[in-house]
This record gives sequence, C-alpha cells and structure tokens, in this order.
Amino acid sequence: MAENVTPQQLTQTHEQALRDFASINDLESLKFFTSQTVGKKSNLGLWFKQLKSLDVEMKKELGPKLQDFKNYWEQACVSKLQALETAALNEKLKTDFIDVTQSYPTQKGAIHPLSQVQRHIESIFMGMGFEVADGPEVETEWHNFDALNVPANHPARDMQDTFFVNSTQSESKNNSVLRTQTSNIQIRKMLEKGAPVRIIAPGRVYRNEDVDATHDAMFYQVEGLVVDKNISVSHLKGTLETMLSAVFGKTMKVRIRPGYFPFVEPGLEVDIWWEYTDKNGEEKGRWLEFCGAGMVHPNVLRNSNVDPEIYTGFAFGFGLTRLVMMKYGIEDIRLLSSNKREFLQQF
Ligand code: DAH
Repeated sequence: MAENVTPQQLTQTHEQALRDFASINDLESLKFFTSQTVGKKSNLGLWFKQLKSLDVEMKKELGPKLQDFKNYWEQACVSKLQALETAALNEKLKTDFIDVTQSYPTQKGAIHPLSQVQRHIESIFMGMGFEVADGPEVETEWHNFDALNVPANHPARDMQDTFFVNSTQSESKNNSVLRTQTSNIQIRKMLEKGAPVRIIAPGRVYRNEDVDATHDAMFYQVEGLVVDKNISVSHLKGTLETMLSAVFGKTMKVRIRPGYFPFVEPGLEVDIWWEYTDKNGEEKGRWLEFCGAGMVHPNVLRNSNVDPEIYTGFAFGFGLTRLVMMKYGIEDIRLLSSNKREFLQQF
C-alpha cells in the first residue's frame, strides 16, 4: 500500500491544484482535472481509505482537512464547469442564433375573391342606406317557398330543387330545407322589423345540381329588398346601376325586361351591357343576363305582415358567385371552392 498521506502532502496537493486549475479554460481539461482531483480513482479516494488505519490524533487532524479539500474542489469544479459551459454557449450563439423576426418564408394570405367582392358590395349598399342582413341556411319550407308565394306543388319549386332534411313534421311547410335562395331573408326581415325596410342579404344557397363548370350545388347570392311608400321600378334600376358601376369601376348600362318569379309582380329580368375583347382583339359588347327582380308581390307583403295598400317595394336577387366570375374572367365555378393556391394567389 502507498505511503500514508500527510497534512503537508495535502497542502502541497492543494497548492498544485490551485495552480493547475487557474490555467484550465476548456471543458476537456476540466474533466481531466476533476477526475484527477476528486474522482473515484484520484489520490483523494485513496487517502480517505488510508484514514481508517491512522492513529486517532492524525485522524482528527486529517479527517476534516480531507473533507474540506473534497468540498472545496468539488464546488470549484462545478462552478468552473458552469462558467465554461455558459461561455461556450455564448460563443456558439454569436454565430448560431435564430432570428425569430425572420421565421420561415411564408406565403402571404389574402381575402378570398368571393369575400372581397361581397365586402365591396356590402359597403356600396351601406353607402346607399341599406342594412346587411343574415339568416339561416337550413330554412323552413315556409320561409324558402310558401311565404314567397310558392306553395307546395307550385311548378316554380321544380326550378329550385334542393336538399330536403327528413323530418317528422306533419305540415310540410315546417320541414327543413337547405335554402335555395337568399329571398328567405325578405320574409324574415319584414316579419322582424316591418316596413319600411332596406336590406341586402348575401349568403350561401344550395341546389340539387349536376356540378359542372357553370353549376355548383352551393353558390352565393345577394338578395336585395326595399319596401317603403312610393317605391317604383326606377328606384330598382338606379340602385342596380349604381352598384354595378361601383363593382366594375366604370358606368354600367342596365336593361330591364319582363320575367317570371312568383314573389314579384311585375317580375323582371335585369341584363347588363357587357363589353369584352374577342379572340381577334376586337372590342365587342352584348347584353348579359344578370339577375331576377321585380316589384314585391302583395302576397309576399301580406305573408310578412306588411300592408300592400300602404307599401310597395322592389326586390332583386343575383348570383354573387357569377358576378365574381364575370369580374375576374373565371371560367370554372368549381375553382372558387377548390382552395387551390395557384388559383387564389391571383387575387
Ligand atoms: N331568388 C331568385 C333565384 O334564386 C332570384 C330573384 C328573382 C330574387 C327575382 C328576387 C326577385 O328578389 O325579385 O332565382
């Protein structure tokens, strides 16, 4: 067995360790130093074993000194380890850092073209004193058909086949349907507020359609309704011309001709003069069907608790989806609900 440790030896070892320690400035050297000084296989380990065989006096003197030595160097090594690790990290951060303000290259989002045009239209109408109204897409048969002067078995129901929700209602007018038109809001708003009323109602509608480039089972409409005293067709024409001119950013011409819709009398078709450039680069123009409209049928007013002897009104309903397609020259309606980035990025 090696010679027993002495207090002098311990002091010398401590002093030597202080000198060595001062020059350590990397993790590798510190690790080595730590194992040499306080590790299991260090002299210290041996000295603690030797302690048992020493005489009592020596034990009393050396025991605490060994313990102090152990405490001192364990503490010193841990502190230095932390200091070196922090320094290494700081050094690394100088070059290897994340600029959180930069983040990953992201694609900037945008408002969907349908929403863009819808918002534009809402602001145009609000400028003319209209309120923007909303209502349920799952509607009662009564609001969607009966109240609009389309009773059960009326042939006009065929033109708007939709999705009926199975129900146990004894009266068919309480059945639920996915609304085929936003005209239901006429009824809801008049029942709620009475007359006079001036609203537009943009929203989704549903039809049982074979889907192709120009037909979808879900699309957007905007309904308009003005009921007041002395309302005439010229108010309707002026309102639509103002709206269309604002949407297209130029004066738009509107033509009115007779049409049939059960909830208006007279019923009207509104066409717009559409200017375009043909394949040969020639400037052309033609009348394009734009929407249905008319003077609100007295039955509709009565069904909504409005007195047709006092009030008259006009109503119109156009396809917002179609208007967006016209404005941007979109040829396939399905693109508007496709969520395709290549398509949406263009707006
Ligand atoms: N609701 C009709 C449709 O979906 C459009 C319409 C026509 C609305 C004439 C009206 C109107 O308010 O007066 O085909």
